[in-house]
Order: sequence, then structure tokens, then C-alpha cells
Amino acid sequence: MHSKRTSTCGVLTKQDLGNNVVLSGWVNKRRDHGGLIFIDLRDRTGLIQLVFNPDFNEEVHKLAHDLRSEYVISITGTISERAKGTENKNLPTGEIEVQVQALEILNKSKGLPFSLEEAGKVDEELRLKYRYLDLRRPEMLSKFKLRDKINFAIRDFMHKSNFYEIETPILTKNTPEGAREFLVPSRIHSGKFYALPQSPQLYKQLLMAGGIEKYYQIARCFRDEDLRSDRQPEFTQLDLEMSFIEEEDVYSVIEKLFKKIFKEAFNKDLEIPFRRLTYTEAFENYGSDKPDLRFGLKILNIGKLFENTKLKFLSSILNKPNGKIGALNVSSYQFTRSELDNLVKQAMEMGAGGLLWIRFDKDGKPDSPVAKFLPDNFLELAKKFNSEINEKSTLFIIAGEYEDSWELLGRLRNLLGKNLNLIDKSEFNFSWVTEFPLVEYDKETKNWSAVHHPFTAPESNWESKDIKEVKARAYDVICNGVELGGGSIRIHESDLQSKVFDLLGLDKDTANKKFGFLLESQDLGFPPLGGIALGIDRLIMILSGSKSIREVIAFPKTAKGYDPLMDSPTEVANNRLLECDLKVIDQD
Ligand code: AMO
Repeated sequence: MHSKRTSTCGVLTKQDLGNNVVLSGWVNKRRDHGGLIFIDLRDRTGLIQLVFNPDFNEEVHKLAHDLRSEYVISITGTISERAKGTENKNLPTGEIEVQVQALEILNKSKGLPFSLEEAGKVDEELRLKYRYLDLRRPEMLSKFKLRDKINFAIRDFMHKSNFYEIETPILTKNTPEGAREFLVPSRIHSGKFYALPQSPQLYKQLLMAGGIEKYYQIARCFRDEDLRSDRQPEFTQLDLEMSFIEEEDVYSVIEKLFKKIFKEAFNKDLEIPFRRLTYTEAFENYGSDKPDLRFGLKILNIGKLFENTKLKFLSSILNKPNGKIGALNVSSYQFTRSELDNLVKQAMEMGAGGLLWIRFDKDGKPDSPVAKFLPDNFLELAKKFNSEINEKSTLFIIAGEYEDSWELLGRLRNLLGKNLNLIDKSEFNFSWVTEFPLVEYDKETKNWSAVHHPFTAPESNWESKDIKEVKARAYDVICNGVELGGGSIRIHESDLQSKVFDLLGLDKDTANKKFGFLLESQDLGFPPLGGIALGIDRLIMILSGSKSIREVIAFPKTAKGYDPLMDSPTEVANNRLLECDLKVIDQD
């Protein structure tokens, strides 16, 4: 048994001078200077310099010769002041060091597969294979320290706001309501499957039927979908639901929660309430339902400027019922020709049929690949059309079907925002996007599908409206262009729920088979309700300035859904499959 440590490394200061301490940790670095050996000892609180002096203790000094990076050791020593001129200003403990009297090697380490200092540069898969080494880095540890702080703030806030924390099942039922689910074969019920929950949505609604009134959970969710930098197959949500409420109640809980998180994690006063935009406003101005509002660069609907154009491809688009011409106007930067060519290339890679640019020469004449088709007074007309257009402007134009071209302009806007440094990286810009459409047309299944989920309530009087125009009582909370959370007021009456299922192409039989329990509960005294779920991984990603949610998940999967550490998923033995009456059909 090694001696019990009396302190951690990073917290020691000059106030501890002369004290005897026992410290444990990892050898971060070893340096031999003549007779003296210096070790940077690391634990999760930081580093401290150890000094092994042969004049002080010859035997211990000899033992220190064997120390290598990542050995785990325990030492006993005295805190002393560093000699003048040898202080390290970059280290919080840089004014002091420990004169070591006793050393115990608790475990050795072979050479690491990558140096911890250079882990940021190595292949991500290698980092994930040795994630436990990667986690030792202060940069990674700080993310998990923040995550813990935020989880604690969330629990504290929810408890004090009278929410009950309740766990819901992980083995649930396969239902056709959104993302693809992971299936789990049942051994006992041969030929049948559980599904892992893509969210606790149905359970939290049933908890409201159960009279819980205010529920929350820090819930694990599973979705078998294509992965991106902000998506993992398993992730964590703060999931909550309330009875007898309206949209405003949800906004207020979430805004107050974020205020608390910012105060506790960063000692910052977050301004609430958050800005609100309808979905239509967000899409018209920013080409996105999760606009990054840290910068302007709104999309201009400039069809009017081209009403009498000689450019056939533009006039033919304007003649189509849903055809529109959109533009981004940049006047704060003068692009070189190769930068323009590059942007055209990037827009095409995003899926644009083309990107037309127009700028102006020193006489104010249009300079553009289509300049000869533009009137000489184009600048004058453009200025009249929008006062932000001037001789320094470069217009980037995409024309086509409204939704497609605006979506592309939205992506181009984000790219320009980043390339032109229009974004203040220290800002956290929160907003609500509200009044989403209830349904969208799925070209593949030729069916209407719910934009949020099938339990979301439509606006009142929805039946008298064209279904494309019907709004849902749904909302998303956005920060810096990332969707942090989404929720809605739910349907609580079986009549309305059946009508919506019907609209979504679920015939009565299927609806009953899949959701009979819900419809029945709605006939047994179901209160009005609503809620939201926040992606905790995404929240920590943004708050820690990380590029991907993989950076804030202790053991994430790669972008291909693979776990290099445990080498998962794997084949399983035939007898395990047979227990569940399953057989893998050879694909070759
Ligand atoms: P939704 O599907 O919008 O809503 O999810 C809510 C939030 O969860 C996060 N999120 C993800 N994070 C990481 N990886 C993923 N694959 C992933 N998918 C979603 C996002 C998202 O905003 N049951 C509803 C909520 C409700 O209506 O109350 C739901 O799950 O931050």
C-alpha cells in the first residue's frame, strides 16, 4: 500500500512553503541537469516540479534515474521556493518545487503510441483507440470538468424548479416516428425485437398522463443515422416535459437554465429572453432553420432587379411558380479573381448549378462573367433596390427553386462568414426558431412526414388551411448556428392524434398497432402538455469551443460508427445468435 496523498499537484502555492506533502500522479517529463533530476508530476489538477537531489537523498535520486514518461509514482517531499531566475511563469505552480525524500513507483509505462503533447496532431482513430491516454491531456480533462459542472448545474436547477428526475427504459418499442432505431433481438420472445430509444419522447408524454406534471432526465438516446461532426449514434439529452403549459413556459425554463449555466460555468451574465424568429423569417433571411446570428449578411431576394433581364437562364427561373433569385452582398472585402473562382467551385460542390458573381469596376460598370448582358446602369438600379449595395459590392447570386437555392445561399453565407472573419468567436448568440411547418413532403415515400414528430400539435384552425401552410407548435433553440434543442406542445386528445396519424399516411390498423397505447391513454384523462430536449453533447461542444461532439464524449464512435478502442461492432458467436433464433445471411 502506498502512502495516501495529502494534496493534489496543481493546487499547491507559495503558501505551502516548508510543508511536507505526499503526492501521486504521472511522470509528465523528466530532465537530468548534472546531478539534479527534475520531474514534472501531473495529476488532473495540473503539474508540479519535483527535484531529486543526490545530496538530499542518494538512494531516491538513483531510483529517479529509472523514471520514464507516464510512470505512475507517489512521492513524499517538502515544498520549497524555486531559485531566482528558474521560475516558470507559464505554470500556476511555477514559483515552487518539491524536494523529494521518498519515491515509490506504483506502475511503469511502456513508450506510448503517441506523445500526449502531440495528440492533437495524430489521426483521430488512433486517439480513440487509446482514448484513456488521450483523456490524460489537460485540454481533454478540462472539457470533462466543464461537462460535470454543467450537468450539476442542470440537476440543481431542475430540482429547484420542481422537476422530478425519472429514468425511462432503454429497451423500448420500434415505432415509425423519425430517425432509424437500433434493434435488439429478444431471446425470450423469439423473432421479436426491442428498439433502443431515439429519445424518451413517448415515455415522457405517458409520465404526464401519470400525473408527474414536471419531468426531466439526462437521457441517453440512440439513433442509427448517418453521422456528422455534431451527430453520434448515441448521445445525451436534457429531456423535459410539463403539463398545463404553453410555449412561453418552455422558453422561460430553458432561458433561465442557460442563464444559470453561463453564470456557474463562466461567471457570465447571459442576456435573456433570447431573440425569436419564425421559421419563415429564418429561412428567408438566412437560408437555414438554425441561422448563425453572430453576423449579418442576409440573403436578398433580388428577382426584381432581373425582371427585364436579357439573361435567359434567369428570366426562365423567374417565370417558374417557385423560381427565385437570391443574393449575398459583400462590400467589406474585395475578392481576387481566383478567390471568386474558388467560391464558384465550392458552391458547385455544395450542389449549386452555378454561382453568379457581379461586382463593379472603378467606373461603376458591372464586372461579371455575364457583364455584357447587364445594363450599364446596373449599379444604380441595384443601389435603388437595396441601400447596402454600393460600388464596393460583390453580389453572389444563386437562382432556382426557392427552397433549394436559399438553402445553398445559407451554406454559402456560413462559408463567407467564416472566411471573411465576420464571426466573433467569443460570442454565444442564442435564439428561438418558432412556427415550423407541421409536415414536409417526402419525395421518396411520397408521403407527408412530420417536421418535428407526429405528436406535435398543429396550430389552431389548421384543418381549414392548405396542409403545406399549416404551422406546428414546435420550436428549436439555436446557438451560433447549431441546433441545441427542439420541442413542441403535444397533442393530448386521441381525435386530433388520429387525424395527424392519418395525414402522415399511418392507416388505422398500423396506428393502433404501433401507438394504440398512446391513443388509449389520451382517452383516459390526458392533460395538455409540452416539452423540449437539449443536446448536451452539442451544448458542451459549443461552450468548450470544440470542433466536434466527439471531443466532449468520453468514448465516442468514429464518423463511421466504429469504436476503435473495443473494436465494436463485432460478429457474435453463432450460438448467441441461435439463442435469439437469428442467423446472419452471408452477403457474398
Ligand atoms: P430532437 O430530435 O430535435 O428532439 O433532438 C433534440 C436535440 O438532441 C440533439 N441531437 C443529437 N445530438 C447528437 N447526436 C445526434 N445524433 C443527435 N440527434 C439529436 C440535438 C437536438 O436539438 N423528443 C424530441 C424532443 C421533444 O420534442 O421534446 C427530440 O428528441 O441537440
